[in-house]
Amino acid sequence: MYKDIKLAIVGCGKWGMNHVRTANLILGKNFKIVCDSFCTNKDKISEISSEIIYTENLDDIINDKEINAVIVSSPAETHYEITKKLLLAGKNVLVEKPITLVPEEAEELIQIAKKDNLKLMVGHVLLYHPAVMKIKELVDKGIIGKLQYIYSNRLNLGTIRSEENIWWSFAPHDISVIQFLNESDPDEISSNGADFIQNGIEDTTLTYLKYPGNVHAHIFVSWLHPFKEQRLVVIGDKGMLVFEDSLKSEKLKFYKKGFHKTEKGLEKFENEYEVVTFDEKKPLEEEQKHFFESIINNTTPLTDGVHALKVLNILEKAHNQLKN
Ligand SMILES: NC(=O)c1ccc[n+]([C@@H]2O[C@H](COP(=O)([O-])OP(=O)(O)OC[C@H]3O[C@@H](n4cnc5c(N)ncnc54)[C@H](O)[C@@H]3O)[C@@H](O)[C@H]2O)c1
Repeated sequence: MYKDIKLAIVGCGKWGMNHVRTANLILGKNFKIVCDSFCTNKDKISEISSEIIYTENLDDIINDKEINAVIVSSPAETHYEITKKLLLAGKNVLVEKPITLVPEEAEELIQIAKKDNLKLMVGHVLLYHPAVMKIKELVDKGIIGKLQYIYSNRLNLGTIRSEENIWWSFAPHDISVIQFLNESDPDEISSNGADFIQNGIEDTTLTYLKYPGNVHAHIFVSWLHPFKEQRLVVIGDKGMLVFEDSLKSEKLKFYKKGFHKTEKGLEKFENEYEVVTFDEKKPLEEEQKHFFESIINNTTPLTDGVHALKVLNILEKAHNQLKN
C-alpha cells in the first residue's frame, strides 16, 4: 500500500526510536535512512533492521532523490532549520511537536510547503488516538449536547527537561485535542505556574482558555506529581465523557449526568456510567499512516502546519503570561 513512500527519519533519541520501530513495521525496506548528529541508539537501529542506513549528515537525505518523506524527531529548537532545509529540497515532512519555537518560523514553513504542494504535518499524536477520535465522533453526534467545559490533566513524576518547561513539554498534546474538539480559537488565555526544581523552568502550570460560544477549558500539567494521570474530561449540557489513558481498562466512559431546567427549577439527572469502546489501534502507527496517505492521495493532514501554528500561538501566549 505504501510502495511509493521512501522514508528517512531525523533524530533517533527516546521518541525518535518509537518512530523508527513503527516505520520499520509499516514500510519495511522502504524505510531507508536514519540521520542523527549524535546517536546513542545505533545498535538498536541495526537490530531493528540491518538494511536501514545510518548517517550523521542531513545532506545524505537531501541529496537522495528517492526519499519523498521525512520524519523529524530532533529537539524542538532544531525543528525550524531542519524542516526548512528538507522542504526546500522537495521532501514532505512530518515534524514532531512543537512545530517550531516561534510562530513566524512556523508561518514560513507553511508557506514553503504550500508553494510546492508538499505535506507539512506535525506529530500531535493524540489526534490519532482512537479514543480521541471516538470522543470527537460522540461530540459531533450531539451525545453530550452543547459543549460547555473541557479539562485535561497530564501529570507524572518526570521526565524533567532543562531545555523547556512542563508547559512546552506536555501541553502541546492537550491544546491540540482541545482545539480539535472546539474547532475554534480561544479568545482568552491565562496561565500560572511555579518552579521548584530548576530556577526559571516551571514544573507545574495551570492554564485557562475561554472559547467562543461560552466554552471553557483548563490544562493542568506537571512533572512533579506522585503518580501518572492523563485525564481528559469533556462536559456538555446532556452528558459528560471522561478519557483516562493512564488506566488499564475502562479508559473511556460516558456519564449521563447534569441538570435540566424545569418549571420547578433545576433538576439533577444522574445515571451510572457506560463504558465506551474504541478501536485498539496504536496512535503513532495511525499518525505515520496518515502522513503517508496524505502524500499518496494528496490530501491535507489533520494535524497540518496550520493546526500546529494555532497550537503554537496558544503555547506562546500562555508562555508570555507565565513569564510576566
Ligand atoms: N509526540 C509525542 O508524544 C512526543 C513524545 C516525546 C517527545 N516528542 C518530541 O520528539 C522530539 C524528540 O524528543 P526526544 O525525547 O526523542 O529527544 P532526545 O533528546 O531523546 O532525542 C533527540 C535526538 O535528536 C538528535 N539531534 C539533535 N540535534 C540534531 C540535528 N541537528 N540533526 C540530527 N539529529 C539531531 C540527538 O542526537 C538525539 O539523538 C521533540 O521535538 C519532542 O518534543 C514527542
